[in-house]
Amino acid sequence: MDSGGSEVILSIKDVCKSFPGVKALDKVSIDVKRAMVHGIVGENGAGKSTLMKILSGVYEKDSGTVVFDGQQIEHTTPQQSMQRGLAIIYQELNLVNTMSVGENVLLGRFREMKGMRGTHAKARELLDRIGSKIGTTRLVSELSVSEKQMVEIAKALSFESKLIIMDEPSSSLTAEEMCELVKIIQQLKDQGISIIYISHKLDEIFEFCDNVSVMRDGRVIDTKPKSEFTRNELIMQMVGREIENEYPERPQRVGEVLMEVRSINTRKLHDVSFSLHKGEILGFVGLVGAGRTEIVRALFGADRVRGHQVLIEGKPTPILNPRDAIGAGFGFIPEDRKLQGLVLPFSVESNISMASFRKFTRLGFLRKSIEKEIGTRQVKALSVKTPSTKVPVVNLSGGNQQKCIVGRWLEISPSILIMDEPTKGIDVGAKYEIYMLMKDIAERGGAIILISSELPEVLNMSNRVLTVFEGRITGEFDPKVTSADKIMSAALGFDGECS
Ligand SMILES: Nc1ncnc2c1ncn2[C@@H]1O[C@H](COP(=O)(O)OP(=O)(O)OP(=O)(O)O)[C@@H](O)[C@H]1O
Ligand SMILES: [Mg+2]
Repeated sequence: MDSGGSEVILSIKDVCKSFPGVKALDKVSIDVKRAMVHGIVGENGAGKSTLMKILSGVYEKDSGTVVFDGQQIEHTTPQQSMQRGLAIIYQELNLVNTMSVGENVLLGRFREMKGMRGTHAKARELLDRIGSKIGTTRLVSELSVSEKQMVEIAKALSFESKLIIMDEPSSSLTAEEMCELVKIIQQLKDQGISIIYISHKLDEIFEFCDNVSVMRDGRVIDTKPKSEFTRNELIMQMVGREIENEYPERPQRVGEVLMEVRSINTRKLHDVSFSLHKGEILGFVGLVGAGRTEIVRALFGADRVRGHQVLIEGKPTPILNPRDAIGAGFGFIPEDRKLQGLVLPFSVESNISMASFRKFTRLGFLRKSIEKEIGTRQVKALSVKTPSTKVPVVNLSGGNQQKCIVGRWLEISPSILIMDEPTKGIDVGAKYEIYMLMKDIAERGGAIILISSELPEVLNMSNRVLTVFEGRITGEFDPKVTSADKIMSAALGFDGECS
């Protein structure tokens, strides 16, 4: 039986790892087979990324054994594990932005490549192997996230990798880019390479993984062929309880107009006007780059835009910067939490209370006890997994960092909450909790603007959706009665229809 495809490339046995106050991994054992895609799923903070960082030599395990390609691995470094044929593509990509594609693919191996010409030639060959057409002289800072991922994969191939770990590679990809990635994964498999694929998107797990391991609280709950899991069973094993519906019912009572936005014009946006009602969740649907983020950034005063008008409850309300916006009752959960949201070395509680400055600067200085109170409240409401609210937010898992941003804005009970990809990297159980909190804001008379590249999320949560294509609003739909296909065509620029 044990030949070809079923041979084990990586054997993890009884691996443990603790951080102060957290047992991140508790006797984890997983076997990964050659030329197979091994999916790993689990709640935020379950230990997935920690395990991968141990495999790639970023962290040292406390105990247990790791055998890779027949060799027991001890005290390894990221460089050594790359050279041994184990590559990792991180949740947050890891390239040098100021260098070219070619230089990144072969980083540190300039001499081995005999100079620049050799470097670019080799990079071209590797990119061709995955069918990518990215020019090797382009600067990495100019690439899209998916192109950056291709560069990471080419880099992995340059070391003759036998196993490539992908930690939530799809969280920033568009649907089309995802199709590309699936093709590449198939090609890598055909070349005999194994993949460990971590994702919160269960559709992906069911689409192309061969085997799946479920982790919870630092333990492996189950590993088996994908075909032996049902979706419900997988969810139940992940969150430890049954979840009947992935979405709650949408808000029921949409009231009068809360805000009117007239004529946002920028280089990218053309005459964007719309209204938002009390008690409403308004979804924006469009491709990445269509202008959805620009619309909400303009609205929030995050980008300098002039000439448009915002009326809140009929009153003209000029918003020139985010402070004005917060004063007018806005909250904003940005798309890129690392760039626009979190201060990584600061504690969980100071990150969460950061927008609530009005609550504790009343006496002219920060009131530490209020900060703590706010932090504790939101950590509880969102089940943020952390040993304490004093821990620097950088120590939290990706999904738990995202929850801190969500908590920051829920705390100020905004009357208009803008959410740009709010559930990116968040597990199924916690997503449901966030949907309930959104609904709560709407039911208390607030309103939400929701941007999400996960179509089912926008369609199931919104009372109304607007499609955005090339900087214009191309349609308005009631998702309860309109097919997803019809909405998508408007978002793709085919005759949008206004209802
Ligand atoms: N450097 C660190 N210092 C302290 N604690 C850490 C550190 N890295 C991870 N942890 C903790 O270890 C646990 C597991 O985190 P990990 O990042 O592995 O989760 P994950 O399964 O990848 O979650 P997500 O789906 O949110 O990415 C979490 O409780 C996290 O807070
Ligand atoms: Mg992670």
